[in-house]
Amino acid sequence: MRNPPIYFALKNYISKKRACFHMPGHHRGRGAHPFLVDLLGEKVLLSDITEVEGMDYLHKAEGVIKHAQELAANLFKVDYTFFLINGSTVGNLVMLASTLSPGDKVIIQRNSHRSIIGGLAILDLIPEYIQPEIHPYLEIPWGITPEELEKKLKKGDSKVVFLTSPNYFGMCEDLPSLVKVGKRYNSILLLDEAHGAHFPFNSTLPETGIKFGFDMIVQSAHKTLPSLTQTSFLHVFKKNIDMDRVYDSLAFFQSSSPSYLFMASLDIVRYQMETDGEKLWDEVIDKANFLREEINKIEGLYSFGVEILEDGIFDLDPTKVTVNTKSIGITGFEVEDILNKKYNIEIELSDSSNILLFMTPGVTDDEIQRLLDALRDISKMRRKPKERWLESPGIPEMALTPKKAFLRPKELIPIEKSKGRVAGNIVSSYPPGLPILVPGEKITKDIIDYILRLEEEGAVIQGLYDKILIKVVK
Ligand SMILES: Cc1ncc(COP(=O)(O)O)c(C=O)c1O
Repeated sequence: MRNPPIYFALKNYISKKRACFHMPGHHRGRGAHPFLVDLLGEKVLLSDITEVEGMDYLHKAEGVIKHAQELAANLFKVDYTFFLINGSTVGNLVMLASTLSPGDKVIIQRNSHRSIIGGLAILDLIPEYIQPEIHPYLEIPWGITPEELEKKLKKGDSKVVFLTSPNYFGMCEDLPSLVKVGKRYNSILLLDEAHGAHFPFNSTLPETGIKFGFDMIVQSAHKTLPSLTQTSFLHVFKKNIDMDRVYDSLAFFQSSSPSYLFMASLDIVRYQMETDGEKLWDEVIDKANFLREEINKIEGLYSFGVEILEDGIFDLDPTKVTVNTKSIGITGFEVEDILNKKYNIEIELSDSSNILLFMTPGVTDDEIQRLLDALRDISKMRRKPKERWLESPGIPEMALTPKKAFLRPKELIPIEKSKGRVAGNIVSSYPPGLPILVPGEKITKDIIDYILRLEEEGAVIQGLYDKILIKVVK
């Protein structure tokens, strides 16, 4: 167990009470408005330094940051761990930029995060999408099959495979088999494990993809670990990776004024997981299992557990508690809204038939009881359940590359009039948690109907303006 070096260096630095003539402009809080001091506290502002003499440089780490990153790499058992201060969003961009060149094809899941789609547009990459399996009852896309991956790889024109697992709901795909297929074709393997940063720290959690042979893995520390928002880890095994490209990409895409609050938070969470991880997650898992059992006692609500592994899902993160609301005839969106407005309860997300609760260290029994009481009340508002929701129309034809579409002039037009036009933006929604359109794709009548029906159901659709306008290429 190694002490967190950034934490100690920061404590030491601020104790020196140096006269300061440098960024940030709040001057250790002394120049800050009282509102900001009230909100953050003096200590946060004192620690909010960027790179100054005596500390280290993120983009040329030779001191405490280097040391802290090495301790993390040691814990995660990888060649390198890099601290990310712009989230896994930047990690995904760095993974693409480190392994691909303009015009290259890359195999990705259609349920990839928008940062990966953004990476295609910035770097001029050509996507080879694989549509994920969608659970028939829960209507959640969860993963691709080794057979589908092999079909794409057989075409022989994509050297990089970029997978995403677990999904938001904690469902894991069969990474060992997918990696095996990828290795057979000598692919470079990238993993967006944004939702699995906690996996290495408890033996009952699913195995992290780090163990299966990926070349680069990104994890959002802030999503599940007690770390500050925007903090992530990028792990690299150097054998197949040009490390120079990794360093250059990190320096291009990340802020040149990294916050020591973020870096200290990553350093401390590494230390916390190393010292207390197993116990902390034991407690969270116990609470999550209790919550799941109690939800399943409420008539009409269903919180899935390991039984869904029988439906082909490879593994399940027990700390994600999903409540399926289909049988009470109330959409997940509505349940979220009621929880928010009537019960003062904030949840992670909702879709048309589910709400998702994150269980993380610090969740209290009182919060769990409040949620259960609210769900018991809500279950009594039941209505006649609807038939199956909506069939997604599939992946549209690519009329322009993502980069060309991204750089062309755009206009907003009513969605009803967009048939035959080329999408200028990502349009996505829960459900099913898949992009419906990405820049460059041709808009068909089926897609227009699908988006309009989702809208009617109350889905929150990203990429529509004033609920009726869509951005298209001019
Ligand atoms: C699968 C996945 N990858 C990447 C990201 C981006 O992560 P971050 O918020 O750390 O930038 C998200 C965010 O929700 C995500 O769900």
